[in-house]
Formats: sequence, C-alpha cells, structure tokens
Amino acid sequence: MNKNQTTLPLIPYPQQINFLPGSFQWTSKTLISINSNLKEITLFLDSLPDPIRPSITNEEKDSQLKIIIDPFMRNEAYHLSILPDHLELIAAGAHGIFYALQTLLQLILAEHKPEMQLITLPCLQIIDSPRFAWRGLMLDEARHFQGIQTVKDLLDWMACFKLNVFHWHLTEDQGWRIEIKRYPRLIEVGASRSASQISGFLGKKLNAIPHTGFYTQEEIREIVQYAAERHIQIVPEIEMPGHSQAALAAYPALGCTGGPYQVSPHWGIHSDILCPGKPGTTTFLQNVLTEVLELFPGKYIHTGGDEAPKTRWKSCPDCQKLAKESNVTRINDLQTILTNRISNFLNIHGRTLIGWNEMLAEGLDPEAVVQYWVGKEKTLLKHIRSGRKAILSNFSAYYLDHSYEHSPLDKVYQYEPVFSQLESSLYANILGIEAPLWTEFVPNRARLDWQIFPRLLAVAETAWLDPGKKDLTSFHQRLPGLLKQLDAKNIGYALLSDANPPVYQRLSGPLSLVQAGKGQREG
Ligand code: ACM
Ligand code: ZN
Repeated sequence: MNKNQTTLPLIPYPQQINFLPGSFQWTSKTLISINSNLKEITLFLDSLPDPIRPSITNEEKDSQLKIIIDPFMRNEAYHLSILPDHLELIAAGAHGIFYALQTLLQLILAEHKPEMQLITLPCLQIIDSPRFAWRGLMLDEARHFQGIQTVKDLLDWMACFKLNVFHWHLTEDQGWRIEIKRYPRLIEVGASRSASQISGFLGKKLNAIPHTGFYTQEEIREIVQYAAERHIQIVPEIEMPGHSQAALAAYPALGCTGGPYQVSPHWGIHSDILCPGKPGTTTFLQNVLTEVLELFPGKYIHTGGDEAPKTRWKSCPDCQKLAKESNVTRINDLQTILTNRISNFLNIHGRTLIGWNEMLAEGLDPEAVVQYWVGKEKTLLKHIRSGRKAILSNFSAYYLDHSYEHSPLDKVYQYEPVFSQLESSLYANILGIEAPLWTEFVPNRARLDWQIFPRLLAVAETAWLDPGKKDLTSFHQRLPGLLKQLDAKNIGYALLSDANPPVYQRLSGPLSLVQAGKGQREG
C-alpha cells in the first residue's frame, strides 16, 4: 500500500477514493471566488476557523476552488479532486457541490488544531454518491419541546453527515407544537401540560412540573429555510387518528365522547383518539394541513397512524354510522377510510402521505408511503412487492431513544436495514432509512446529545455507503476525528465506553426500553 493510502477521517466514508501523489497546502492565503453565487460556498467559509479562512478573490480564474457543473451526474453525487495547486468540485448542481464541500470541511477540520495556520491535505480524487435517497433523522418535540437552537444545531450536524430528511414530530397526546392560525386553541390549550411521567413506561409517577412550548409559523418558516440551505427537506408529522389527545383537549368535539380531555401528562398509548365519524374531523384535519402545506414546501407530509386503539370507535354512534355508510364490517377499516381521505387531499395538492406501518391495510391508497418501525416484515414485503414505497426505521436498531445497553453503537453500525428476503429488483422501492428520537425521557439538550451521538454517525454511514464497503474497524479509526469536531461544539455525546457497554451490562437491554433510562455525561 502506498503510504498515502490511509483511512481518511470521513463519515460517511466516500464510495471511492483514488489517492494521488503530493499534497495541497490550505492556508488563509488560499484563494476562493464567491462569484458563483453558490450560498453553499459562503456556508462552507463560515464554518472554517479564522486562521484558515481563505482569501476571497474577484477573479474567477485565480480561484483555487474550481466548481464544475455536470448536468449528467446524479443529483447528490459529487467528485472532489485535491490537486497540488487547486481543488476541483464536480456535481450536477448545488446539492452535490454542498456535499463535496462537507467532505472537504471534514478533512480540514479533522487536521485542525486551535491557532493552526496551515492544513496539509493529501492529493486525491473522491467519487461519491449515496446508497439511499432518504437519509433521515426524526425528532419528537411533542413529548419534550427542545426549541429553535437545538433544531438548527441538529440540522447542521445532519448536513455534516450528509443526512437530508428531518422528520419533525410536532403533535402528540402530550403537546401540540405548531401554530395553526385557524385553530388558536391548539396552542392556547394544546401546547401545555401540567406534569410529566418520570417513572418509566410502566409506572405512573408524575413530576408536577408544567411543560410548554410551540413554534410560531414565522419560526417554522425560518427553520424550513435554514434546512433548505443545508439541502435538508423537513417532513412535518401531524398525528392522526391516535396520539391526538392534545388536539382533543383543545377541540373536544373531534373525539368520540366529546370529552372533556386533558393534554396528557402520561406516556404510552391513549384510548381517546380522533373520531372519523364526526364530519368536523376531516374538515379540521384538512384545514390544519392547508396551513401546514403553506409552511412546508416538501413533497411529503407524515400523518402518523401508529398506535391508534379503536376502543372508543366501537361504541361511538358516529363511527358506527360511518362504518355502515361505507360498508365496512371491521371498525379498524375506518382508519383506512380516514387515511385515504387525507391521502387524496394531499395528492390533490401535489403531496404524498407517509404513515407508520400500522396504517398498512387492504384498500390503503397505493400512493401512501409506509414507514416501517415494528411488526410483521411479511406485511411490509407485500406492500413493497405491489410496487409501493417504504422507509425503514426498525426499532430494534434505529430508535435513538433506546439505551446503549439495548442498541450499542456497533450493533447500530452493523445492522443491515433492507430485509434479506427482498428481491434486489425492488430495492428502489425502499426510499431509505431514518432514525427516530422519541423524547419521553429526553427532557433536555444534554440527554438529547447523549442519545443521538455518536449513534447518528453509524446510521449516516449506513444511509450513504454501499453495504459491501462498510467496515466497523475503519469506522472506529475514523470516529475520533469526528468526535473532536463534536467536542469543538460542546456536544455531550456518549463516550465509546458508554456507547458500547460490556456484555454483562447489555443483559439489561430489554428492560431499559420501559425504564426512564439513565445516561448523559456529567457537567
Ligand atoms: C412509534 O414508535 N410509535 C412509531
Ligand atoms: Zn367516533
């Protein structure tokens, strides 16, 4: 092996690297033109420490960072060449250029120490493109509201690791977090609860500390814009028909019994869900979504659909009436009726519905995308084999709220998300993978950082790099360089000794799913 052929401090690792002789000296005298009007370059320059921030030139020909647009390349693909006297970035457009710059930034920052004025970069050519088009992180802000700064920081890290979908879980039994102008009580009533359950999923102990928070539409627009600048699509989730008790507390007429309801202080699955038999429910949902569509320009809207017990529907005259009119014999089918109404509504507006895999049923609108988290793989395979689309978030590997005893870093890294039974001709129907962070037991930033990092890096590499090229030993060689970058931003990630606990500690893994997990670093 040539002595240059080392493992580069990059996560996700590029698909192909060709090492070349020589090196490029990166200093504050490196010349860069910003004439191209690519905001991506400005963002890149802003991310560099002062002593190695390059000089700006107005002469395109003097620029040592050459940007070449090749419309025949795939959307997110890029080539990055580091040559002795200049760098070359080739992509089909801004998205690929952005990723080339993220790769360059990781290389520079991995070498950087405070006050350092020169970074030596090895000459090479990187040829790169993602395995999956959908590379997601989900944040539940309903159980615990985290706020704009945390969301922006997460979007920055997502961009760094080439993740491109932020799934924003905004409504729940325990809180409604998005301003809807037509229904002010969703915030006035639905955004606050009186207490939170602190005893794990099995106990009912409450802490008596009120919890509140929501995003105004103006703040949402700011975050959507911030994400777009980083080539991240935000997929909002408005849950229906289950996990909707905060909406019911605000508008009790939407429930089967008419209430009263409270914004729940308890976690878990709640019986009071939206009543599909009340004509007002569909109108309400469509009106809410009309405002949501104005705020979120992306193609996909998530409508939940998980964990919706039909207890109330069974004894509700309005639900019975709808069942009769629709000729359905099983009350469960009312969920499909509601989902299809909303899916049609979204289709008319040029959007596509995504829902958790519990919504899968005969008669589901074939346009709907299923996000798989738990349950029979067989049902999902059938859905995919009939030509429909899926996103994979297997809860035994990708739930970032799970303890490290249950989901150690190395297990997350080595997990292969695509079912082995799936025919390779159908791989294109798997849009990609996504790691959710549910926040029942994530009350603050320190805990959030600890749950997400470094596991998100393992997910990001699986999302990007072809499975045959993944390598756990190489991942561990590269991690310290990236953890140093997390350190520089004071991210309290789980140390490797915590992220890969010894085997005897892992025995408590299954139990740690129902406990209020411990964790997060001191200080
Ligand atoms: C889920 O974890 N209930 C989607
Ligand atoms: Zn009902």
